[in-house]
Amino acid sequence: MNPTLLEVRDLNKAFGTVVTARNLNFSLQSGVITSIIGPNGAGKSTLINILTGLIAPDSGEILFHGRDITREPIARRVRWGLCRSFQVANVFGHLSLFENIAIPVLAVTRKATSFLRSTVRDKDVRREVESVLNRIGLLKQSHVRAGALSHGDQRLLEVGIALAAKPSMLFLDEPTAGMNPVERTRILQNIRELSDGGEVTFAIVEHDMDVVFSLSERVIVLHRGQIIGDGTPEQVKASPQVREVYLGEEVAE
Ligand SMILES: Nc1ncnc2c1ncn2[C@@H]1O[C@H](COP(=O)(O)OP(=O)(O)OP(=O)(O)O)[C@@H](O)[C@H]1O
Ligand SMILES: [Mg+2]
Repeated sequence: MNPTLLEVRDLNKAFGTVVTARNLNFSLQSGVITSIIGPNGAGKSTLINILTGLIAPDSGEILFHGRDITREPIARRVRWGLCRSFQVANVFGHLSLFENIAIPVLAVTRKATSFLRSTVRDKDVRREVESVLNRIGLLKQSHVRAGALSHGDQRLLEVGIALAAKPSMLFLDEPTAGMNPVERTRILQNIRELSDGGEVTFAIVEHDMDVVFSLSERVIVLHRGQIIGDGTPEQVKASPQVREVYLGEEVAE
């Protein structure tokens, strides 16, 4: 089995009477594309928010690369390689693609070399930004304003912004939401290639079952804050409990 990258122990979170995490225990393995699925309100986005530091759990522990990060702020988690994208696109529309990627690249490079700030050279930054744009297939549009991109390309750019921080684990919250079929195929291809590249491990929250079953090696099904299914796409598809939650529709073959 691949090494464990992230581990969740006895995680709990409730908003009043709404329980979004009930004694969650699971770990995510390096190099395995994992999808987290479940009905609306199951607690998927909240789980990403907790794991990446936007909100605190009520109780429980999160370990990343074996280190307890439960109380670490977002910036430190990002520096250690734990990043995310949001359910709603989050790019600077008035800036070019190059500038959108340059901001996080500069932030990361500066931090890494803060003792010798002058060593951050324009050439290195440019090379890094272009490498990220190339990895998401948008290098040719480098000087286009981000706001002028199609919705699908803006979401790809978001993935690029997250990649610029050099994550070892990247959570994507509904990366294909609002995309047309062509855009969807492209982003899936991109995720697969980036995953095959071996540097980034993806965990994806997704509603589109075609996407989930074609992309993931492992599927975790969340329902009212509890894991009701966890396994390969085939195992999850065959689970009576999962079928019941989905009324047999989306998981039908
Ligand atoms: N900050 C908050 N305050 C109060 N309730 C919240 C808050 N954030 C989420 N919730 C509630 O927690 C539950 C889980 O929300 P969450 O956004 O995690 O669901 P989800 O699985 O991502 O759903 P969707 O598929 O619709 O995106 C919902 O009932 C939601 O209303
Ligand atoms: Mg959500």
